Amino acid sequence: MKGLILSGGAGTRLRPLTHTRAKQLVPVANRPILFYGIDAMAAAGITDIGIVVGGDTAAEIIEAVGDGSQFGARITYIHQEAPLGLAHCVLISREFLADDDFVMYLGDNMLQQGLAGFVAAFEADHRAGAQPPLDGGSPPPAAQILLCKVPDPHRFGVAELDPQGGVVRLVEKPDDPPSDLALVGVYLFTPLVHDAVAAIAPSERGELEITDAIQWIIDQGHPVRHEELDGWWLDTGKKDPLLESNARVLEILEPRMDGELQGSSRVDGRVVVEPGAVLIDTQVRGPAIIGAGARLVGSYIGPYTAIGAGCEIVSSEVEHSVVMDGSRVVGVPRLMDSLVGRGCEVGRSGNRPSATRLMLGDDSSVDLG
Ligand code: G1P
Repeated sequence: MKGLILSGGAGTRLRPLTHTRAKQLVPVANRPILFYGIDAMAAAGITDIGIVVGGDTAAEIIEAVGDGSQFGARITYIHQEAPLGLAHCVLISREFLADDDFVMYLGDNMLQQGLAGFVAAFEADHRAGAQPPLDGGSPPPAAQILLCKVPDPHRFGVAELDPQGGVVRLVEKPDDPPSDLALVGVYLFTPLVHDAVAAIAPSERGELEITDAIQWIIDQGHPVRHEELDGWWLDTGKKDPLLESNARVLEILEPRMDGELQGSSRVDGRVVVEPGAVLIDTQVRGPAIIGAGARLVGSYIGPYTAIGAGCEIVSSEVEHSVVMDGSRVVGVPRLMDSLVGRGCEVGRSGNRPSATRLMLGDDSSVDLG
């Protein structure tokens, strides 16, 4: 079994952060989203992994992931010339995938559940199906999908099941969804998918949709197995889901104190302080993570906060927020529910006339409370 992680595409939904950075590298609990997907594959025993990269973001993804040895995996990079769809990614990965079954994972998705059970269920069906069904029972599935009930199915690929629970139809972002079961960004395919991606035509948005490829497999009479997701799933393309996935991951981090507490500093609850971080007269209430080399002075860091490496937080209170590497927050009484990119300055100069002075990048948003 191989792995294919899709990590091209523009992150239009997470602008402005993704004006300058791949959406898959946006950090959750101080680690790129993409790393959680690679971890999940490696934990399921899938170590031969292809990553599809594209356009402006290929270089930084390759730099962050490297050869995969940090995950115990071997990575092959596959370059996509233009974002022509998820099925197009399969098309250009033909040589890497050869005739192996593979798990396909969208690099901007995060799942609570691991992949091991999903893969094991598929393999068990295949072992059972290795003998032709004498009783005329169904052959082993040609593909497997993961579904999740969502309140807004029109934003996703949507599955329609028959009363026996068989997958009968899949539609991409329908105006009138046939169910509330969205396709989660994890799929399992046999080599039959290569015929499917070669047979379909681009959708209205001009992309080769993986949803259409799976529909083709169904139309050819092959069974497609589905599982319903266990636990949370975040399609992290927006601010609130990103803050939510940050919170969910912080909740399960092993507390660790590799930095330094000075003066009256205190940490309570589930807190990770990474090497070289210095806290001076600062209180941190977990779940929270303080990145390597960060400097926190006379501040309070509240629950569900990730402070990136090299940040400086002075005389401020930050809660339920993500502050990315190298940013400074100085003299801000209460920063909440916020996403602060890398190298930002949020502060109070005390200059008269007293006013809010901004320099915001394109597509930024500010709530003055
Ligand atoms: C893609 C798929 C869609 C799936 C979604 C999950 O959508 O096309 O079927 O439900 O990922 O994240 P996209 O992110 O390309 O809009």
